[in-house]
This record gives sequence, C-alpha cells and structure tokens, in this order.
Amino acid sequence: MEPMSREEVLACVEAAVRAPSIHNTQPWLFLPEGDRIEVHADPSRRLPSVDPQGRALHLSLGAAVLNLCLAVAATGRRPFLALLPAPGDGRHVATVTADGPYTMDERALYEAIPVRRTSRRPFRDTPVPPDALRRLEEAALLQGGELKFTRAPERELLLGLVRTADERKRNDVAYRAELRTWTTDDPYREDGIPLAAMGPWSRDDTVPVRDFAPDLERPVPSVREFESEPVIAVLAAIGRDTPADWLRAGQALQRVLLEATRLGLATGLFTQPLEHPDLRALLADPARRTHVQAILRFGHAAEETPPTARRPAEDVVARTRPLPLRPTRPG
Ligand SMILES: Cc1cc2nc3c(=O)[nH]c(=O)nc-3n(C[C@H](O)[C@H](O)[C@H](O)COP(=O)(O)O)c2cc1C
Repeated sequence: MEPMSREEVLACVEAAVRAPSIHNTQPWLFLPEGDRIEVHADPSRRLPSVDPQGRALHLSLGAAVLNLCLAVAATGRRPFLALLPAPGDGRHVATVTADGPYTMDERALYEAIPVRRTSRRPFRDTPVPPDALRRLEEAALLQGGELKFTRAPERELLLGLVRTADERKRNDVAYRAELRTWTTDDPYREDGIPLAAMGPWSRDDTVPVRDFAPDLERPVPSVREFESEPVIAVLAAIGRDTPADWLRAGQALQRVLLEATRLGLATGLFTQPLEHPDLRALLADPARRTHVQAILRFGHAAEETPPTARRPAEDVVARTRPLPLRPTRPG
C-alpha cells in the first residue's frame, strides 16, 4: 500500500488530539516515521497533585491511541498497535503501524471523534434505552474493559464518594494551585479547561460535578435541576493496575464515549474519588481483581456543550525523538 502522506499523518494526529484528557492537559507527542506513528507521553504536562502515579495521564494517552487507530483505519489501512513497545522507555507508550488494507467498518466511531464532548450540564429525565446500555458494555469489553451500570443504593454510595473526595479537596492547597494552572478564562488558550466548559451546579448536589474554578473570578454558577436518576457506570480494568492496564483502560474509556456519542448520548466523567487511594480501594473488587479507572455519566443532554480547544496537530508532532524516560512504577 502507499505510505501515508503528510496530510494523512496530520489528519490522524488531528483525530488523536481530540481525545479527552485529565484537565485537558493533552499530555502527548507524536513521532511519525514512515508507515508508523509513535505516541509519547509529555511529562511536562503531568499533574503531580491529582495524578502522582501517572494513571490519569496514561488513561488520556490510551484514549488518544484509540482515536489514532480509528483514524489510520479510516485511511483504509490496518492499524497494528504495539503498547509500550520500547522496554526501558516508559515515555514511548505506543506505536501504531499502518499495516496493509483494512476493511472493518469503524467509520461511525471515527466520525464521532469531533462530536464527542465532556458534558457537565443537566441531562433530561428521558431514560437511556437498555439496548444502548448493552452496546456501551460491549464497547468496553471490546477493549478489554468492564463497564458496570449502578443502581440505587450502590449509585448513591458512589456519588457519596465523589462528594467526599470533593470535600477533602476543597482545602488542599496543592490541588487548588494545580487547578489554577489548568483552568482558564482566556478564550484563546489551546489547553486547560475554559469557563465555557463548566456548567451550573445541580440542586442539592445530586450530580456532583467537579468545581474546576474555585479560585477563578467568574459569575456565580446558577443552581439547576439535573436528572433525578443519573445513569452512572464504573469502568474497570480486570487484572493488574500498571501503565499497560491504564493505557488499555483509556482505549476502553474512549470506545465507550465514542459509542455513546454515536448513539446520541451525552457523556460526563467524575474521577475525584479515584484520586484518593483509600477511596479508590473501596471501589476495588479484590475477589475479581478489578480496578476502577473511571466513573461515567450518560444521558440525553438538555443543552449543548461547546467544544474544548486543542493544540493544533503541527504543535504536537515531534521533529526529533523525545528523550527516553524510565518506565512509571505503579503503586
Ligand atoms: C482520565 C480522565 C479523568 C477526567 N476526570 C474528569 C473529572 O473528574 N471531571 C470532569 O468534569 N471531567 C473529567 N475529565 C474530562 C476532561 O476534563 C476533558 O476530557 C477535557 O477537559 C477535554 O474536554 P472534552 O472531553 O470536552 O474534549 C477527565 C478526562 C480524563 C481522560
């Protein structure tokens, strides 16, 4: 097959950077070489306060890797994925090789990439059909993840943990300093979370959306009625809790989010309890050796969420090989 043109490579990177990332840090660099595109972590974009292990960083990278594979497939080439292909260099998280013709039809997921958003706004009370929930579970399974929908009282316990984590964070100086760096009222900034992406508060904190701007001057958010029965699921990885597992969980997360978008559903994330080892441990299932990697919310959006900015593809394509880094040690 023809090697990928510069335009095709840039289109693939363009799709990859539309992935969600913790605090919109976009912690990635791409190194195209012949028929391969390498994905490297950008450690300068790591969040030491909320993510000292680099778990959320790897989830974000995994989400970008899935987008990259879907974009390579959309050029008609088979994406062959190698995770952590360079032992001894934990920064080089993946290589995607365009490997012969590809016929599997994943175009609908590829087309969902620019439409997907993280919503922090009210959803309507219209139920999500059981068939849609099943498709979302299947999407996670396809990438080796496990998506479990919760019902009351388990759901209330889970949302209670989110509120507990928020409460603890309120007086955490390092956490707030990090948020000040990554939230912005500058409409031209190309990373971080803009004011436009934050929504109103939910009445009685029924849906505990993260307060991204406790220190930013902004009009006091309104208080609104959110959906009365939030559709909440936990995404878990079965087995270990290493960088490779986090990368796989990121791919599962992104496939679920894209499948939801394709089904016309809005999606939200709250990962606050996962940032506290004791709260995260409460969510683990030791008998089945599962580790929760994300908490998700699904529903029918009551209002539009604008897109959040990204750095352009040209700015995240490395001209020279990024310096290797020792692998991340979990735990
Ligand atoms: C690992 C991970 C954790 C996240 N945690 C949260 C969270 O706790 N609360 C939230 O509102 N958004 C969360 N997000 C969503 C990001 O803030 C969002 O992806 C980013 O701002 C880009 O916006 P977009 O998803 O609308 O493109 C998380 C995303 C990832 C990948």
